[in-house]
Amino acid sequence: MSANTSTLNVDNKSVDLAIKEGTIGPSVVDISKLYGQTGMFTYDPGFTSTASCESKITYIDGDAGVLLYRGYPIEQLAEHGDFLETCYLLLYGELPTAAQKADFDYRVTRHTMVHDQMTRFFNGFRRDAHPMAVMVACVGALSAFYHDSTDISDPQQRMIASMRMIAKMPTLAAMAYKYSIGQPFVYPQNDLDYTSNFLRMCFAVPCEDYKVNPVLSRALDRIFILHADHEQNASTSTVRLAGSSGANPFACIAAGIACLWGPAHGGANEAALKMLEEIGTPDRIPEYIAKAKDKNDPFRLMGFGHRVYKNYDPRARIMQKTTHEVLRELGIKDDPLLDVAVELEQIALKDEYFVEKKLYPNIDFYSGITLKAMGFPTSMFTVLFALARTVGWIAQWSEMIEDPSQRIGRPRQLYVGAPKRDYVTVAQRG
Ligand code: CMC
Repeated sequence: MSANTSTLNVDNKSVDLAIKEGTIGPSVVDISKLYGQTGMFTYDPGFTSTASCESKITYIDGDAGVLLYRGYPIEQLAEHGDFLETCYLLLYGELPTAAQKADFDYRVTRHTMVHDQMTRFFNGFRRDAHPMAVMVACVGALSAFYHDSTDISDPQQRMIASMRMIAKMPTLAAMAYKYSIGQPFVYPQNDLDYTSNFLRMCFAVPCEDYKVNPVLSRALDRIFILHADHEQNASTSTVRLAGSSGANPFACIAAGIACLWGPAHGGANEAALKMLEEIGTPDRIPEYIAKAKDKNDPFRLMGFGHRVYKNYDPRARIMQKTTHEVLRELGIKDDPLLDVAVELEQIALKDEYFVEKKLYPNIDFYSGITLKAMGFPTSMFTVLFALARTVGWIAQWSEMIEDPSQRIGRPRQLYVGAPKRDYVTVAQRG
């Protein structure tokens, strides 16, 4: 066995498997030839020990609580950068120069309007439809409107599709919100920055002026930065898998949105806020901690725990600071939900069960309180996550498409069903 090879013994046969090194983080054992050499698959439901691809975009050290986009710590990006700069970084690998940034902002901004016929889609939905349902449908439907950017073999078309999705997600998200409350859609206003424009499309009404609060806009922009990418999580893997078949980018991102919706993933921000509301007052926390620890109760503390982070989620730390900034700006001194959240966090961080299982608050624990204070209803929380994650999905999708060794993703299985048997006619079945 050489230094960069590991040996596996299967049925008295010894197989050498190459070890591949990353720049940082765990190395991987390359098992891509294992089936050919041994006739065996590996088994890893939930992919807890499986790297599905090589990637240069995002790095997470879950034990140390580190998150890097293209090598840059999330804390520095959130403190000094803006969301569109983060988009550029994720897409192109480097921070933009001033000229590149101005050009990128201009290109994104010029794609913010959606085809006017999209409004007819909205009219087809019930007003009480969940906005995530609307987003899955409308983003998928973009492929029915923008035929000039669905040829994935053309880099120019891929680029335009990317710009379109980053630019149109806020417009669609705001439309989903406006539709749900029965207010007219607000067109984008392109002299505003990306996030201010989004706030205006959500909260302006035609009968009065709307002034964007710069503190809230900056806070939301930071929230977008925190959510922009997160390595090979469930929705990103969904986008990659959908894209591996050659599906068009709009369809792939719609698949990512569908996956994000689940409460174990992006839907946790909505679920966390509902949980805080259900707990209501700090004196009820012990009851909920007990429920979370009870093996026979399916209840989990939403906004706690993470597959990769076995330490405080670095995004949660920034999020907590942002929550306080937003509440201070809005003059909210006593938010009962924040009281419950702060106390719950303190109790859980000391509780043996949570300490032993390394269950720390994740990004979703505080984001709901902040978004609610800004005026978003809970049903919009995951939509905002999808809006911000779109760039990460696109960056990961592009990386995959541009990889010459890319093949369709096709996992195998351990078959445990009935062995081969013969068909029996209905009359003969006992
Ligand atoms: N409350 C109580 N117990 C928990 C929790 C929780 N939130 N999370 C995990 N556990 C327990 C779980 O019961 C299990 O215990 P045991 O080993 O005794 O069976 C152990 O911790 C490991 O849990 P797991 O489900 O095997 O871990 P996982 O890596 O498969 O799941 C998770 C990760 C995020 C789905 C899970 O922690 C969870 O359901 N958390 C609540 C939902 C949530 O906040 N999700 C947002 C994640 S961050 C944003 C994003 O990725 O979109």
